[in-house]
Amino acid sequence: MRVLFVTSECLPYVKTGGLGDVAGALPAALRAEGVDVRTLIPGYPGVLDRLENIKVLRDLRGLPGLPSAAPARLVAGRGVDGGTVYALDIPSFFGRKGNPYLGPDGKDWSDNHLRFAALGRIAALIGLAGDGASGRAAWKPDVLHGHDWQAGLAAAHLHFPLWPLAGLKRPGTVFTIHNLAFQGLFPAETVPTLGLPWDGFTPQGFEFYSQLSFLKAGLVYSDRLTTVSPTYATEIQGEIFGFGMDGLLRARADVLHGILNGIDTDAWDPARDPQLSALYDADTLPAKETNKADIQRAFGLSPDIHAPLFGIVSRLTDQKGIDLVVQAIPHIVARGGQLAVLGTGTASLEQALAGAARHYPGRVGLVLGYDEALSHRLQAGVDVLMVPSRFEPCGLTQMYALRYGTLPLVARVGGLADTVTDCTDDALSDGTATGFTFGPVTVPSLINAIDRAFALHPQTERWRGVQRSAMARDVSWGASARHYVETYKAAMAAADRG
Ligand code: ADP
Ligand code: GLC
Repeated sequence: MRVLFVTSECLPYVKTGGLGDVAGALPAALRAEGVDVRTLIPGYPGVLDRLENIKVLRDLRGLPGLPSAAPARLVAGRGVDGGTVYALDIPSFFGRKGNPYLGPDGKDWSDNHLRFAALGRIAALIGLAGDGASGRAAWKPDVLHGHDWQAGLAAAHLHFPLWPLAGLKRPGTVFTIHNLAFQGLFPAETVPTLGLPWDGFTPQGFEFYSQLSFLKAGLVYSDRLTTVSPTYATEIQGEIFGFGMDGLLRARADVLHGILNGIDTDAWDPARDPQLSALYDADTLPAKETNKADIQRAFGLSPDIHAPLFGIVSRLTDQKGIDLVVQAIPHIVARGGQLAVLGTGTASLEQALAGAARHYPGRVGLVLGYDEALSHRLQAGVDVLMVPSRFEPCGLTQMYALRYGTLPLVARVGGLADTVTDCTDDALSDGTATGFTFGPVTVPSLINAIDRAFALHPQTERWRGVQRSAMARDVSWGASARHYVETYKAAMAAADRG
């Protein structure tokens, strides 16, 4: 079975959030199931610099939005994990350093519709006509697996193929929702400029309240839909979490599956992680204290090994409930705790956290920015990792925490609810507890969970028991990769039916 991943992020080349982790790790798990996975990604500098043995497969000049002479090529190379990566080598679209979506002013690039339309269009071209390699090297996918709005137009182009592609057999299509809040909305006028037919610009197609929605194109025209946890699959069919797409998702509920994300258990392994001050496993948990001391130093916190140390690694946005944490800080400090935050995002949240760090020197530490290495050290060094999200399709940081014997303290929503078992009396006594969950997502309810963490922390043996249960939780991709394979088969069958 040949599967083409279509994604705008993929580790180790480019990442702004969990999509990068998933697109980086899931292909390896699928290959272990015998799937031939290849990835199509925009040719950002971080991609083209790292591919080996690059070959040019197609000339893409003349794509919508490109001056006719502007260079544009489909290239293929060997990726860091040995798999084949296709990249859109289009310097005027993707030859920009930094964040893939935002310019230096922090605003969306004004040509994002053109940039990601190119991604969907070339994905569809490969899906119908193959990658352009000659002879036996030619490759055409059985399934096109798109991720998030940036890949959404691929399914629309397969539905409305442009001449001379009409009539060619199309692959099955699977579309994964990593975050329904990001919808790729653009003015109606962009429809013809992107080579899309007005026929599709209806409420049954890719129109969303008079705008073009890339996300909706993916949701409407794909054979199978998935999202990244079972609870989120249910939540998005309701008004609160549905962001206006709930009606459509209810109508397509029979082809929508929640498949829980896994994590890369090689990259995230406290017994082998090169970033840590001390390596440890479930039998050597006291060694974790060396990492705690490291984090206290790195975040300017007082060197107090007994103070419960709370941590956050996150985009600092409304989704992530960071404002609730800001309000809980006085309580954490009053009870003798510490807080280390690594993140970047909304200016007002950054300022509020910076203010707390100034107000509570030695108790609250903040590193503003994106730092992969520090995120590993933080996961190993803190006692409790907080994820108080208002909604969370899956969430990966709580799974990294589980693997590092750091107890997650999470809102009971989406994938957080599916991955963390609360320290109730029952769960503590039967050994299934792995962390703290709370709901509703309010400050009092967050503080209640924080208090429960404070109460358990001094009970060293019980705490260690929960840490060991957390570390024993299966957070690998195995079962989910098999679920994707079943979904691919269903999509292929749907494509065969026409
Ligand atoms: P989302 O994709 O919504 O941001 P996830 O929990 O799925 O949430 O994934 C976030 C990923 O980004 C994790 O791998 C996390 O460790 C990483 N991350 C978030 N913020 C930072 C940061 N400031 N520095 C390093 N890694 C970060
Ligand atoms: C999105 C979601 C996050 C999920 C990630 C990977 O960024 O916000 O919850 O873990 O995608 O699927």
